[in-house]
Amino acid sequence: MDPVSPAWRGRRVVLGVSGGIAAYKAVELCRQMVDAGAHVAPVLTEDATRFIGALTFSALASEPAQTQLFTGATGDGSEHPIPHTRLGQSADVVVVAPATARLIAKYAAGLSDDLLTATLLATRAPVVLAPAMHTEMWEHPAVQENLTTLRRRGVHVVEPESGRLAGGDIGAGRLAAPEAILGAVLEVLTHGLDLAGVRVLVTAGGTREAIDPVRFIGNRSSGKMGHAVAERASARGAAVTLVTAAAAGLADSFAAGPVEVVPVVSAQEMHDAVLSRFDATDVVVMAAAVADFRPKVAALDKLKKADGAPEIVLEPTPDILAELGTVKRGQVLVGFAAETENVAVHAADKLARKNTDLLVANDVSDPQAGFEVDTNRAILLDSSGASEETPLLTKAALADVILDRVAALLGREPVNPHQEMR
Ligand code: PMT
Repeated sequence: MDPVSPAWRGRRVVLGVSGGIAAYKAVELCRQMVDAGAHVAPVLTEDATRFIGALTFSALASEPAQTQLFTGATGDGSEHPIPHTRLGQSADVVVVAPATARLIAKYAAGLSDDLLTATLLATRAPVVLAPAMHTEMWEHPAVQENLTTLRRRGVHVVEPESGRLAGGDIGAGRLAAPEAILGAVLEVLTHGLDLAGVRVLVTAGGTREAIDPVRFIGNRSSGKMGHAVAERASARGAAVTLVTAAAAGLADSFAAGPVEVVPVVSAQEMHDAVLSRFDATDVVVMAAAVADFRPKVAALDKLKKADGAPEIVLEPTPDILAELGTVKRGQVLVGFAAETENVAVHAADKLARKNTDLLVANDVSDPQAGFEVDTNRAILLDSSGASEETPLLTKAALADVILDRVAALLGREPVNPHQEMR
């Protein structure tokens, strides 16, 4: 977490703790958030108090820890008769760590039979859940379906890690590291899950067009730009599908996470993957470097050097973005333009020709921008003719600039994340 981020200062965090062995780890979360300047109100389920004392939280938090639905302390010494509404209404964010299978099931079902679940229903603030449980429970379809329901409502889930669990077992289900949970909370405080419920499809990487079984026509795209857009969109609450032609390892960070990863190789495969999902998509960001041409015929066997230099006849690939531009029905289309000269002019031409709402033009002859590197700078053009030039940014920061523009095009301010969008 960034302990000096001003986003923490004075923000009201309800820290929910449910009954699992990882409850003791919530003490450290509480301390770090208080140190960062947040006002932390701990709420423990009765089961949580079997693992850790409420007094420990009271000693560290900004107000006494609460456990009961019907009496509560307000922090100013007076009792509040209905603490869940006070806690829920005044929260800037509610974070539950650890969230047990039972807590998740009750929240998904709308049950409010204790202070924590009642607070979760009584809040319009964003909610961050950090599940922790044994592997068998974590993988149970009931738990996963409940989490899918909650994600669809805009709840942010910080996936558990693999590691040592209670009783010495090893597997998936260990509470995420404090930095991951605090990072997610800070994210929510900064962006407010402004893309909650939005379905975003991102393409990434360079397509490969086969010459024969071992050779291909490719390009320098690493996939970093597209993957950054997918990662940031997911962090801001979007339901993300990443159609990627990048090398396999790059998508590892999405393993078991909420981003749906669809690996593809060629322009045709990328075309088919994107078009088949387009109707169920609100936003498409085409960051992939799609080959414009492919060999008309790919040899079935490896071409032999002894046969002499092959004559490779090329044919155009489908222009995915241009096709989306002709069939779109209200979707926001974001294209990229990889240019080496006259960047703004060529980009404006692509914006119009491919009927996109936003075009992100990068100068790929700049060694700090474009292909492979971790940084990029761009000119953003929109269909009204307005343009904005960014400074040199990390690809993640540029992704946020692009997504800010997408959010504005969707009319999104920081929203009530509990309303299902569709
Ligand atoms: O992957 P990295 O190493 O991080 O590098 C990032 C990047 C340089 C690849 C990225 O920032 C970028 O510029 N992506 C677009 C590359 C590209 O193909 O640009 P273009 O100007 O040739 O194409 C214009 C747009 O049409 C792009 O959105 C492209 O995805 C799309 N296109 C192009 C050809 C085609 N057949 N179908 C398409 O949809």
